Amino acid sequence: MTQKPKVAVIGLGNIGTAVTSNLVKGNRSVIIADRTIDKATALSQNLGNLVQPMDIPSAIKEADIIVFAVWFNVIKELFEIYGTELQGKIIVDPSNPIAPDEKGGFKKIIGENESAGEILASLLPKDAKLAKAFGTLGVASLTKYAFQKPVSSVLFYATDETEINADIEQLIHDAGFEPVRVGTIDQSIRIEVFGDLHEFGALGKTVTATVAKEKLLAIQ
Ligand SMILES: NC(=O)c1ccc[n+]([C@@H]2O[C@H](COP(=O)([O-])OP(=O)(O)OC[C@H]3O[C@@H](n4cnc5c(N)ncnc54)[C@H](OP(=O)(O)O)[C@@H]3O)[C@@H](O)[C@H]2O)c1
Repeated sequence: MTQKPKVAVIGLGNIGTAVTSNLVKGNRSVIIADRTIDKATALSQNLGNLVQPMDIPSAIKEADIIVFAVWFNVIKELFEIYGTELQGKIIVDPSNPIAPDEKGGFKKIIGENESAGEILASLLPKDAKLAKAFGTLGVASLTKYAFQKPVSSVLFYATDETEINADIEQLIHDAGFEPVRVGTIDQSIRIEVFGDLHEFGALGKTVTATVAKEKLLAIQ
């Protein structure tokens, strides 16, 4: 059997911890990194020996797929700092470009019609390939609805690079969800917060692949 690409999760807050835990449940090895090695070491001790803690540059160097489970502005910073190490890698962006507003809610920090996915695509390190994924559900659902039986819940993704579809779909599958491709990166806005396919947008919930495909067709 061919070996699966190595995956690293960078940023071990809500989403990074949930994605890592789900991948471990799916029997997938994960390299993890955060600002400090202590945080990565502590999580690896909780999750067992499929998880390998590293510092950020080593994690990027070692992995084929890097999930940036950090805030949108931090991803931009990390692209600048690690531009050389990220060359040729598959980058997964789960970010929602939002910040708290004055009314206790959230507001977009980029233009109304812009998406984090498209902005990051324009800043990609050389030969890196971007997928928008793992950001369609809030952390509670990402944890609760992983490995649903008898029918899996969907995680949508978008990418311009059809040659990475299989790797992204395997990753989503190993994390306990059914992958459904929305299209190219210019469709990212649909799967970012407030988008029509987001839990905190018009869709408003987790769905099965059958329902997801109906929703996709509905506006094409
Ligand atoms: N929370 C959700 O329900 C949800 C849903 C969908 C998508 N997302 C997206 O997922 C991303 C992460 O969200 P989250 O809720 O997991 O955030 P979070 O809980 O605040 O976690 C962010 C993690 O990134 C780390 N970090 C910050 N700066 C870093 C740097 N320069 N290098 C390495 N690590 C760094 C933080 O470490 P420190 O604690 O040391 O700062 C923290 O561990 C965001 O883009 C968000 O939009 C979140």
